[in-house]
Amino acid sequence: MTESIIIDCDPGVDDAAALLLAFPSTELEILGITAVAGNIPLEKTEANARFVCELAGRSDIRVLQGCGRPLLYPQRAGVTVHGEDGLGDIGLQRSSSPPAERAAIDFIINQVRAAPGEVTIAVLGPMTNIAVALAIDPGIAPLIKRIVFMGGAAFCKGNVTERAEFNFYFDPHAAQAVVASGIPMVMFGLDVTHKAIITPERTERLKRLGRIGAVAADMLTSYGAGDPCLHDPCVIAYLIEPEIFSGVEGFVEVDVQSDLAMGQSIVSVSQRELAGRTPNCLVMTDVDHDRLFALLEERYARFLAQAA
Ligand code: BDR
Ligand code: CA
Repeated sequence: MTESIIIDCDPGVDDAAALLLAFPSTELEILGITAVAGNIPLEKTEANARFVCELAGRSDIRVLQGCGRPLLYPQRAGVTVHGEDGLGDIGLQRSSSPPAERAAIDFIINQVRAAPGEVTIAVLGPMTNIAVALAIDPGIAPLIKRIVFMGGAAFCKGNVTERAEFNFYFDPHAAQAVVASGIPMVMFGLDVTHKAIITPERTERLKRLGRIGAVAADMLTSYGAGDPCLHDPCVIAYLIEPEIFSGVEGFVEVDVQSDLAMGQSIVSVSQRELAGRTPNCLVMTDVDHDRLFALLEERYARFLAQAA
């Protein structure tokens, strides 16, 4: 059975790698891609989303623009490891198609309402779009099948501050609103994504897979020099082959109070910490990283087969 998904993202090199993993995967029906400000400003994330679709011959997939800044903070600085253009500055031509419609929030609401209980949202960036959709139409919360997201750091240090991971740090208020929504959730924080390491051997193998593999390898090599972790593709890989990952049930909250820990994910697991609360999230902690990279290779190879 295929899973209907909306991919909410801020491409971003690892977001792009995740989109390329999703496109040839018949387990997934991609309803659309919603872009958000994060790694780089919104004009670039939405243009990159369109570019990745064109690169993969998937301009049939709808791309929509969402929020251009976090809920409460003014525009924040992104992440330099993705390069100026957000795709590793490897000389890729920009998309020549017109900018995507500014309709991501309505798109999310309408898709969920059209198929109650059937739509999964894969969140690969700050959670602003989802939080706004939930604020505009709170009635969609019980209708969303599940949210599988990259964000947070449950039992390890952050990557922006000692405490906070980038996606949660960029828009902590959105992250807290979403994790408190009651929607079933699966979390891919740094606990697990820091175990998915991009090595030269792994990018070399991708290079053998035609144009898509070569572009992905070049982007990941450039990005990997600053952040060697394959974060966002873990979310898509889980939707295709969940057995690659393992984790624990926990109650996730996001710190939005303290300067020191702003954006920190606080994850309660023991009965004592839970104090009667029911876990709201499956928190991933481990990955079979060889299998993850083998899946990436196998799916990127499908573009080669399609081109033949
Ligand atoms: C997350 O931040 C971004 O830089 C990546 O795209 C990923 O979503 C990792 O902390
Ligand atoms: Ca991302």
